[in-house]
Amino acid sequence: MRMFGKAGKAAAVAAIAALALTACGRSDSGSSTSTTGGEAFPKDSLIGVALPQKTSENWVLAEKLFNDGLTGAGFKADVQFANAGVSEQQNQISTMVTKGAKVIIVGAIDGSQLGTQLKQAHDSGAVVIAYDRLVKNTDAVDYYVAYDNFKVGELQGQALLDGMKAKKASGPYNIELFAGSPDDANARVFFDGAMSVLQPKIDDGTLKVLSGQKSFEQAVTQGWKDSEAQKRMETLLSGSYTSANPDGVLSPNDNLARAVLRAVKAAGKPLPVVTGQDSEVESVKSIMAGEQYSTINKDTRKLVEHAIEMVKGLQQNKKPEINDDKSYNNGVKIVPAYLLPPVIVTKENVKTAYVDDPVLGPLTK
Ligand code: BGC
Repeated sequence: MRMFGKAGKAAAVAAIAALALTACGRSDSGSSTSTTGGEAFPKDSLIGVALPQKTSENWVLAEKLFNDGLTGAGFKADVQFANAGVSEQQNQISTMVTKGAKVIIVGAIDGSQLGTQLKQAHDSGAVVIAYDRLVKNTDAVDYYVAYDNFKVGELQGQALLDGMKAKKASGPYNIELFAGSPDDANARVFFDGAMSVLQPKIDDGTLKVLSGQKSFEQAVTQGWKDSEAQKRMETLLSGSYTSANPDGVLSPNDNLARAVLRAVKAAGKPLPVVTGQDSEVESVKSIMAGEQYSTINKDTRKLVEHAIEMVKGLQQNKKPEINDDKSYNNGVKIVPAYLLPPVIVTKENVKTAYVDDPVLGPLTK
């Protein structure tokens, strides 16, 4: 839940690290440089990592990075996917608590359904870090580490405008809007970020949504399922584009972007400008081939690394570094966050964007 617009956000980011935040009065409070000395828990403690379903490549990569990084730092790692859904994730978190995990890192499937398990974690003395996705409606979450989700949306909205302008100098442009899964707290933030750029252009007539489906609720894709997005795009095409063509489609991530492109290809229409996110291999190839227009680079290695740095600090009784204490109100508290900057990638910068990436670097050379 975003609490402020652009100006407030800039001020918040500027104000950051200076703030001494009190983290629920737990032993982990203090700034990144301050320490109360001693160890909060033994160095070989169990650290739990509850990941959602494998709805994009970043989650699969995170599993390996958490296992390697945590064990490399001397901790015991318990990294779990919950492919069967919310109740499996709830059970996994409870089991981590029972096994004595000192920190539980959570990439929630449904950010509103973990209150009971996270309270259990807190009651046992564990620190809870929301990873990538915010956990909502509970005070049993201490920190949030993620890429700046609102900024991701803004970059997607701007890329959509830029891509359409490069093809056709002036509007009006026909666009359609897709959003992620409504149970993932990120989905609305991505959408709001994009709409902060697109809504003024809808209002002034530059952009036309021929289907009329402009709200988040109309744009959502349950479970981030590509089959759902493909089906919806087919319906939009047959319903609203028999005589017109879509110039652009806002897609919240790469997996859904490729689904949208499949539907357009099957309908034999010219490819619209389609946005994405995650720098998935197939989408980076598609960008290089001039099909998908953009993606977002949110290097999973950096995000996992930061989460593990937090764990190491907590173990030494240091308060994790925070750079945002305003944006993420989870309905009960403002969760102190560390946000990393996302980067837009199009065909123009695809060769330079991934120079350090072991998989995408060689692919884009
Ligand atoms: C992540 C995205 C990802 C999506 C689907 C979101 O919470 O931030 O990177 O594309 O989940 O897995």
